[in-house]
Amino acid sequence: MNVRVLPAVNQIECHPFYQRSKDLEVMKEFNAAPMAWAPFAEGGHDIWNNPVLKAIAEKHGKTVAQVALHWNIQRGVIVIPKSVHADRMIENMDVWDFELDTDDMEKIAPLDTGKTEIFDHYDINLVKLCNTIGR
Ligand SMILES: NC(=O)c1ccc[n+]([C@@H]2O[C@H](COP(=O)([O-])OP(=O)(O)OC[C@H]3O[C@@H](n4cnc5c(N)ncnc54)[C@H](OP(=O)(O)O)[C@@H]3O)[C@@H](O)[C@H]2O)c1
Repeated sequence: MNVRVLPAVNQIECHPFYQRSKDLEVMKEFNAAPMAWAPFAEGGHDIWNNPVLKAIAEKHGKTVAQVALHWNIQRGVIVIPKSVHADRMIENMDVWDFELDTDDMEKIAPLDTGKTEIFDHYDINLVKLCNTIGR
């Protein structure tokens, strides 16, 4: 433990291609609510055409975006998707009328690569560079 005041919310990159399951367990232990930034992997991994997510979306009559968001919500993760399009903002909020079943969750689990392609907090050189910004 390195801090005296625990974060109430911990914002981390979290999406089907970087699932952070072990990190979520630690946050639960310390009662810090996880919040997913880049819940669509910033559009990476060809997420919109991913066959697993597309099949699950079709099964529930939802979109890939809605499945990706609900998958995180079902794991107890707050989501903050970003869009500049009003119709997509509405789509991204319309995620409360379906549930992913065990089969869906099991199909999404293997999509995890266990690594980021956006920002690696374990890359010491990148962390040092960030520490210099704003000084
Ligand atoms: N704390 C941090 O270190 C950190 C780091 C990165 C990001 N963030 C925050 O996290 C939030 C989201 O992250 P992000 O913007 O990086 O990535 P993201 O939400 O994973 O992805 C955004 C991309 O998805 C597209 N999109 C959104 N909804 C869609 C939909 N329903 N269908 C198809 N495409 C859709 C957007 O395009 P359009 O806009 O064209 O719709 C945009 O290209 C932002 O508010 C950002 O500020 C925090």
